[in-house]
Amino acid sequence: MTHKLLLLAGDGIGPEAMAEVKKLIAVMNEMGHAFETEDALVGGCAYDAHGAAIAEVDVAKAMAADAVLFGAVGGPKWDGVPYDVRPEAGLLRLRKDMDLFANLRPAICYPALASSSSLKQEVIEGLDILILRELTGGVYFGEPKTITDLGNGQKRAVDTQVYDTYEIERISGVAFELARTRKNHVTSMEKRNVMKSGVLWNEVVTATHKAKYSDVKLDHMLADAGGMQLVRWPKQFDVIVCDNLFGDMLSDVAAMLTGSLGMLPSASLGAPDEKTGKRKALYEPVHGSAPDIAGKGIANPIAMIASFAMCLRYSFDMVAEADRLEAAIASVLADGLRTKDILSDGMREVGTAEMGDAIIAKFREAA
Ligand code: IPM
Ligand code: MN
Repeated sequence: MTHKLLLLAGDGIGPEAMAEVKKLIAVMNEMGHAFETEDALVGGCAYDAHGAAIAEVDVAKAMAADAVLFGAVGGPKWDGVPYDVRPEAGLLRLRKDMDLFANLRPAICYPALASSSSLKQEVIEGLDILILRELTGGVYFGEPKTITDLGNGQKRAVDTQVYDTYEIERISGVAFELARTRKNHVTSMEKRNVMKSGVLWNEVVTATHKAKYSDVKLDHMLADAGGMQLVRWPKQFDVIVCDNLFGDMLSDVAAMLTGSLGMLPSASLGAPDEKTGKRKALYEPVHGSAPDIAGKGIANPIAMIASFAMCLRYSFDMVAEADRLEAAIASVLADGLRTKDILSDGMREVGTAEMGDAIIAKFREAA
């Protein structure tokens, strides 16, 4: 059975990171797997080519693929383009059209990197938490979303934070299911002290827990306090579930716990199809396009490669291969290889391609 992958490398360091995954896919195909890949444009490069952040045909390809691998979008070059076609619009369009409501952002501290975080070693050593971010609702997509000229030299900007019961139910269901495969603990974060959407969030998570998942430990935390706890003692968490905007911010914080933004993968999943059981899925590193280092061959490809590991795990049920790929990453780090973003004393600095090659070699050896 062939696995159809749409590769959307995007802008900045996206193509460099994606190049390492392409090498890996080629090696896996040599080993007998059957991945079929197709490239398409997204973000600023798509805007340059056809004036939209993603072409309609490419949205259709994403909908039809078994999985989408996504690099990064954006950069100063497109700062002035109209809001509707800004690079990020391509990513948001895919999330919405593919109904990828569940965004899994695991933050794992590899033992070899425990000393390279800005936090004390004992705080992050052995860290393994999962931020589950709601990805298709909230203030990202709520209407109205406008800037109105009030006519008196003033303008008014409005974003709308909106959540319906079913949206909170389905994301909390995913949180509890995932927790059962981990340490069986969910912490839900919102701002019920200020926001109506927080009140409903809290209510629905509590009701979902009571109805179907009372075997899982559930805690509630205000999202600001949660941010504080995440840097104070992150190991108190297992699965954190939160809305789209809080999840965006808290996952960047969590990324730095692991040493670098260049380390954090993510999976964005839809609901299982009623007939086939298959989920639409997009995998992307949490880091952005990093235009300042783009094209220099120094970007860290680990988050992109680890995103592909998540793809193997969640889209193709290739658990052994996913484990092996994650072990290859850990092993290369243990050998002392470092890209610039995670470099520390006594370690060997390597570029993007050398890091990718080393991981692929370990992966192949362990087969
Ligand atoms: C992320 C990114 C995106 C977001 C941007 C690029 C639209 O920051 O995936 O975390 O805000 O969701
Ligand atoms: Mn973000």
